[in-house]
Amino acid sequence: MSTLNAVELIRKKRDGGALASAEIDWLVAAYTRDEVPDYQMAAFLMAVVWRGMTPPETVTLTRAMAHSGEHLRLHERITPVADKHSTGGVGDKATLVVAPLVAARGLPVAKMSGRGLGHTGGTVDKLEAIPGMRMDLGGEAFLALLLRHGLALAAQSSALAPADGKMYALRDVTATIDSIPLIAASIMSKKLAIGPSHLLLDVKVGSGAFLKTRREARRLAETMVRIGEDAGVRTVAALSSMEQPLGRAVGNALEVAEAVAVLRGEGPEDVTELCLHETALLLAMAGVAADEADGHERAARAIASGEGLAKLEEVVAAQGGDATRISDPARLPRAPWRELVKAPAAGYIAGIDAERVGHVAVHLGAGRLRNGDAINHAVGLVLLAKVGDHLEAGQPLVEIHARSEAEAASARAPLLAAYRWSEAPVSASPLLLGSVSRETLSGDGVLGDGVSGDGDA
Ligand code: URA
Repeated sequence: MSTLNAVELIRKKRDGGALASAEIDWLVAAYTRDEVPDYQMAAFLMAVVWRGMTPPETVTLTRAMAHSGEHLRLHERITPVADKHSTGGVGDKATLVVAPLVAARGLPVAKMSGRGLGHTGGTVDKLEAIPGMRMDLGGEAFLALLLRHGLALAAQSSALAPADGKMYALRDVTATIDSIPLIAASIMSKKLAIGPSHLLLDVKVGSGAFLKTRREARRLAETMVRIGEDAGVRTVAALSSMEQPLGRAVGNALEVAEAVAVLRGEGPEDVTELCLHETALLLAMAGVAADEADGHERAARAIASGEGLAKLEEVVAAQGGDATRISDPARLPRAPWRELVKAPAAGYIAGIDAERVGHVAVHLGAGRLRNGDAINHAVGLVLLAKVGDHLEAGQPLVEIHARSEAEAASARAPLLAAYRWSEAPVSASPLLLGSVSRETLSGDGVLGDGVSGDGDA
């Protein structure tokens, strides 16, 4: 019988101590077996948010979480096989575009996604807006889809990194998301359990991201790239701005519709730019494209030819979803109440606080306030103007999609509070903020400590 106990480990971390590997292994295993209750794990997670973890603790936590379930070892069965993961943003529907584009260009994509976390959306919730879509696939079904279609989109199964499944849901409702070691361990444990050969991480920075500065985002990127490369997964982290929501749609069905628009070549410029960039990086990393420029061209061709959209329709149908909702997104779930919020005065939009916008969407029902809450797939927001746009007083600013008139009314004030205005012209900050790969890691070999200063955002 183990002599370790959760209270001691919580106290040790609360007081700023570093846990031994055996202590972290025990805590994760006991929590996975339901021997440590949620309230103790929540206290431990909060202590980590405050006290952080050393690089060796972060690696041990990641490995313990990865070993809490099965290992698919995908790269031993299919090579190359790619995966992509975002650290979380508002309006971030890039996976719905990048995964089919990459697969359409001949590189298989095994995508195991999460649900919404905090004020950010999750790919699983978005895809479940398509009636019939099955996201709970077992390992064998996941593999069969991958072999047949070159693309599988699944929710994290209870067999893969189950410790993360439990901790992710707990962090979502205990304000314990924004921590570099916890985000790194959560994301990388899932990746190590799946075992892709190539991994692209989209590390978000800014008001709508969990990490608000470039310095923190770069540290997270370096931490994850080191964990991936040490485990033999070719890993690149691309940093991108989340200073304002990505694209115009925020909310599950609305975002699926916008992803379809991007795959048709009719999507907003920023989402399209990000998706082409990520697709190009993955194709170049895996050697399917000669370099990034060639990857970009191939990605653009997959949009122009309709192959990317056809791949999304194919995989939706294969996973039981009604693919006619992709060919005709007007048939996706629609909220019963829609109303416009208008610009309060004339001016240029100087900023849109993405986190506030995300919270408004969650309160409308697009995300969860408590563990296990049901979400509403139809509700959300459509931003009719973005940073840099000029509006006259009374021109349409946002369209609210709500369950009722009362819920729409309660969204107005917090939504308007998310906007900053300027009398002078403003330009949006750049979307793509560079990347981290094994070639650019600082050579100190100390996980997470090699912050190369490119300025704090
Ligand atoms: N995505 C994850 O899977 N985990 C996190 O902690 C944040 C984003």
